[in-house]
This record gives sequence, structure tokens and C-alpha cells, in this order.
Amino acid sequence: MTAPPGIERVLFTEEQVEQRVREVAAEISAKFEGRDLKLIAVLKGAVFFLTALARAIEIPLEIDFLAISSFGSAGPGMVRIAKDLDHPIQDQDILLVEDIVDTGFTTRYLLQTLAGREPRSLGICTLLDRTARRIVQVPVDYRCFEIPDRFVVGCGLDFKQRYRNLGYIAVMDPDKI
Ligand code: IMP
Ligand code: MG
Repeated sequence: MTAPPGIERVLFTEEQVEQRVREVAAEISAKFEGRDLKLIAVLKGAVFFLTALARAIEIPLEIDFLAISSFGSAGPGMVRIAKDLDHPIQDQDILLVEDIVDTGFTTRYLLQTLAGREPRSLGICTLLDRTARRIVQVPVDYRCFEIPDRFVVGCGLDFKQRYRNLGYIAVMDPDKI
């Protein structure tokens, strides 16, 4: 099968992603055994990772979703909640599941918002971490892969809403489309 247009190289194959998700899920299963775990993901990018992670975690858990939108051209990190969680998170152990932590603005906003709702604990689990572009520091508890400073697609990450369904993670060059 030939790669779709714009795909430059595969960073992590589907098998590598599955393997790493299983490892992180095992860590989470051990850490949260006997506790009241809820995974929270932001629509839409993190949905693919959340479902894979949830399937690989071996303890009971709940899931919930929220959606955010950035307002206007206000700059990075200027986001608001477009769809809120369905249920409160008070006294629960919350893991915020991210597709990628890049500058950190989005994650910081979400952490601040969720922390105000008094969860018992609040952590971050991200599929990809691009620390080279970090502007605000956020405490990443679990990450599957560190990636270089290149735009990537697949496993939920999109380019103009496409390529989310790729099973692998690939570097993409938008100029080659
Ligand atoms: P941050 O606020 O800069 O950390 O941005 C995080 C969001 O930007 C992610 O949730 C993605 O939706 C998007 N994003 C950042 N880098 C990439 C990428 O390489 N490919 C696709 N989406 C990305
Ligand atoms: Mg996106």
C-alpha cells in the first residue's frame, strides 16, 4: 500500500504504538488499582488514544469527554469549553488523556479548569510529547512517545481533519499535498 499524499515517513508503526500503549496501560492499572479512575479526553484527537488505552487498562474505569474551541485570533491558549463533561469529577482520580502536548497551553487550561472541580487526583497521560516546543510547563505523568519538532498525523492527530484514522504516527509535509 502506498502512503497517502504528504506522508513523509513513519515515526511509529501500528505495532509499536500498540505495544507502547499496552506498557503505559499496565503502569496505570498498577497505580490506580482499587481507586476510582476516570479517563477524560478532549474531542476529537484524543478519542483514538483514549479508546486504545481504556481497552488495555485492566481495572474498572469511567470515561468522559469534553470539547474545546479557540476563540478568534486571540493567540495560543485562548480556548473555551464548547462541550462540557457529562458528570462531576469531585473525589475521583482523573487522568486527562491527550493526543499531544505541544506548547502546553491547551493542557494547562484544561488542568486549571479540571482542578477547580476538586478531583481526588489529577494527572496527564499523553500519546505524544513534543517538549522541544513547550512554552508553558505542564506535569506529564505518562507519555507513550517523545517526538521531534515536526508536524505529525495519525492515531487521532489530523491535518485539516484528515488522517486521524491512520494506525501509525507519521511525519507530514503539508507542502507536498
Ligand atoms: P498545544 O496547546 O500547543 O499544546 O496544542 C495541542 C493541540 O494542537 C493538540 O491537541 C492538537 O490538536 C494540535 N497539534 C499540535 N501539534 C500537532 C501535530 O503535529 N499534528 C496534529 N495536531 C497537532
Ligand atoms: Mg487538531
